[in-house]
Amino acid sequence: MVAATGSSRDGWSSRTGFVLAAVGAAVGLGNLVRFPAEAAANGGGAFVLFYIFCILLIGLPIMLAETLIGRHGQASATESVKKMAEESKASTAWSGLAGLGILSAFMILAFYCVIGGWVLYYIGIFVADLFQSGVTGGALQNMTPEGIKEIFPTLLEKGWLMALLDAVFVLVTVYFVARGVSGGIEVASVWLMPAFFMLLLGITIYGAFGGAFGEAVSYLFTVDFSKLTGDVMLAAIGQAFFSLSLGVAGMMTYGSYVGKEVNLAKTSTMISFADTSVALVAGLCIFPIVLAAGLSSDGGLGLMFDVLPHAFQSMPAGSLIGLAFFVMVGFAALTSSVSLMEGPTAWTMGKFDMSRAKAATLVASMALLLGVASAYSFNAISDFHPLGFIPLFEGEGVFSVLDSVTAKLFMPIGALLTAIFVGWVADRQLVDAENGLDGGLHQFWRFLVRWVCPLALTAILIVGIFPSILGS
Ligand code: PHE
Repeated sequence: MVAATGSSRDGWSSRTGFVLAAVGAAVGLGNLVRFPAEAAANGGGAFVLFYIFCILLIGLPIMLAETLIGRHGQASATESVKKMAEESKASTAWSGLAGLGILSAFMILAFYCVIGGWVLYYIGIFVADLFQSGVTGGALQNMTPEGIKEIFPTLLEKGWLMALLDAVFVLVTVYFVARGVSGGIEVASVWLMPAFFMLLLGITIYGAFGGAFGEAVSYLFTVDFSKLTGDVMLAAIGQAFFSLSLGVAGMMTYGSYVGKEVNLAKTSTMISFADTSVALVAGLCIFPIVLAAGLSSDGGLGLMFDVLPHAFQSMPAGSLIGLAFFVMVGFAALTSSVSLMEGPTAWTMGKFDMSRAKAATLVASMALLLGVASAYSFNAISDFHPLGFIPLFEGEGVFSVLDSVTAKLFMPIGALLTAIFVGWVADRQLVDAENGLDGGLHQFWRFLVRWVCPLALTAILIVGIFPSILGS
């Protein structure tokens, strides 16, 4: 593929390669950890229904807007926005929206790889357990339920161990990013995503037969509209953005490696559909197992790292399923962390005229430094609240601040600016030539990008910044 600058530029080897990589970027801890936890914390069915609504009316249109900017620019996210702005005779300051996205991606990368490290730890636990408890019995037979409950808090006490595991996860991520778009990122996605889908289906079928499937279905899909409060809606919109990897310039960067022959409206629909399906199936995978063990969860990270290991204890072949489960989570997390590293890497390469390997190493090292600070924010430096002077982030340590600042501020701002840029600022002909839509659907998409997305995003921002509006 030939870049706008005339230099030869790496790109996806096929449309399937792009779709798998983008699905890999979208499907991650957000689908497997956050979606089920948010559904549990926000009353099940009403949250799920509103979530799907957000994906269709806000997430999908913005996914198309982001990928089309990248595909038009054929350059890093900031350069792509700049190019479109210049050609539209608008201010090149709009490229700041991509700059903000790249910063968000970097911040998410830092704490995401820490969670990736936790997943590695649990893989280790279940491998060891397979030898101790055997293949057929339940998991963690030599531990009491109280002991299992202690695994996660004990890990959170060990800053050095989390930092070490974080480093391993960052290393694996940088390995794929440094190898390039078609030779690294695409290869990882083409192998890991099918393996991920097989594991997800296998474990879900296992849960359907051995677990409380009916209960889980009614839990996730019984809609009680009285539970659809402002807080729940906000949680659903935020989750939709995080899950589709929007507002962080990642989809712009991935879009920049796509050839002109690809219909972006179709690929955006496929990616959003796959991501949402995985979130729903993840719910149907996790809850039957949890409910069958008579456990419950009010959400949070504890669902995956406390409640599930406990549930595997009482299930046949629990160690094996536990291992398969965390390997599956690891695969999903890796293809997402790769996408989080790619945006900042592509930017660094362009900005400082650096080789891919050098740029990726630089980004990875900085993310690791911030990751180590996040790991220690659970123990040694738990009293350090970097943004404690801002009421919205009061009392939050490094790990939590990285998550909150990106989720509550940067991602919605990035997505809002993208919608305004594509809907109002960019030259209409440029946009229309890229979006792959015609007729009524085209009109509808324009309406969503110009009106629905900016209004919804402004509402999220206001309510996110002033939560008291919702009375919470
Ligand atoms: N979408 C990913 C997930 O669900 C997280 C992510 C966010 C990845 C932003 C890239 C960019 O886990």
